[in-house]
Amino acid sequence: MRAVVCKELGPPENLQVVELPDPEPGKGEVLIDVAAAGVNFPDALIIQGLYQFKPSPPFSPGGEVSGTIAAVGEGVEGFAIGDRVVAGLAWGGFAEKVVAPADKVIKVPDGVDMAVAASFFLAYATSLYALDDRAGLKKGETLAVLGAAGGVGLAAVQLGKAMGAKVIACASTDEKLALCREHGADETINYREEDLKQRLKALSGGGVDVLYDPVGGALSEQALRAMGWGGRFLVIGFAAGDIPKVPLNLVLLKSCQIVGVFWGMAIVRDPARHAEHVAQLYAWLKEGKIEPHLDHRYPLEEAPAAIRALMDRKAKGKLVVTMR
Ligand SMILES: NC(=O)c1ccc[n+]([C@@H]2O[C@H](COP(=O)([O-])OP(=O)(O)OC[C@H]3O[C@@H](n4cnc5c(N)ncnc54)[C@H](OP(=O)(O)O)[C@@H]3O)[C@@H](O)[C@H]2O)c1
Repeated sequence: MRAVVCKELGPPENLQVVELPDPEPGKGEVLIDVAAAGVNFPDALIIQGLYQFKPSPPFSPGGEVSGTIAAVGEGVEGFAIGDRVVAGLAWGGFAEKVVAPADKVIKVPDGVDMAVAASFFLAYATSLYALDDRAGLKKGETLAVLGAAGGVGLAAVQLGKAMGAKVIACASTDEKLALCREHGADETINYREEDLKQRLKALSGGGVDVLYDPVGGALSEQALRAMGWGGRFLVIGFAAGDIPKVPLNLVLLKSCQIVGVFWGMAIVRDPARHAEHVAQLYAWLKEGKIEPHLDHRYPLEEAPAAIRALMDRKAKGKLVVTMR
């Protein structure tokens, strides 16, 4: 099989496409013939040794795949050869075949395109866990999303609308914001050109109830200053690079909460809740309440270019790597 391999930590241009022997599933594992792999910001971090999981080279990046089961290991129940599935992996997905623990594999309903399935899993499940379990977002509340045209950001915009919130999308270009409006955003803020704090306060009628922050850097404190009384500030990630240090008096004065979100660990600790969320997401997908935006499909050998596009802020919605 062919796989994209990181032999030395560094930029995506260091990645190589190599031939490797097909992996074999062990006890409790399945072998997946990969159709597509979602591209996510953690792929850019893991190849540089900057992610919370730090595999030693050589390894393949790629945190989520869709495909069909090609072999079933000892002791696995509930899966058969030919089943259409998605799997969440910490790494290893940019390959034509992957082995995954059966408890990380979920069946894909009929009618769902495999590229959509691969791009849908991590971003939407992260955002639903954040908005539902961590923020307790309620109908009628105001949700503001930073990096709103990115992978997890656009998922949060769509899910916020599906949950009945008023959604303010915040991003760096008018083109990105137009996409957010197409996907349901009620209001938009271009934070390269407008004062984020003032505009958030004005558009939310005094303060935001839930703030979704996958960007970090200088934007986080501006956004925290626009929180409303009892608001919830969701710490999703730091795509801007800098991990902000914020004055805690702001949290006291607004009686608000700063809430951590670590989806990758949450699904290990509570797989039953994760299964409920996945079922909810597929139901909303079928009803058309959420609709992943596939910006570009890359062949496997162009996976490094896909990661580069994320790092250069060129992607809108989701990018996928397709195997054939
Ligand atoms: N906590 C969790 O469980 C969890 C799960 C999944 C992902 N994440 C994190 O969420 C973040 C976003 O992931 P994603 O896959 O959605 O990435 P993405 O598609 O690349 O979106 C990130 C957005 O951040 C903004 N951005 C600002 N400065 C940037 C920079 N220097 N480089 C790149 N983007 C920058 C961009 O929007 P503008 O250009 O509009 O500013 C971009 O659209 C990452 O930090 C990732 O690690 C966390």
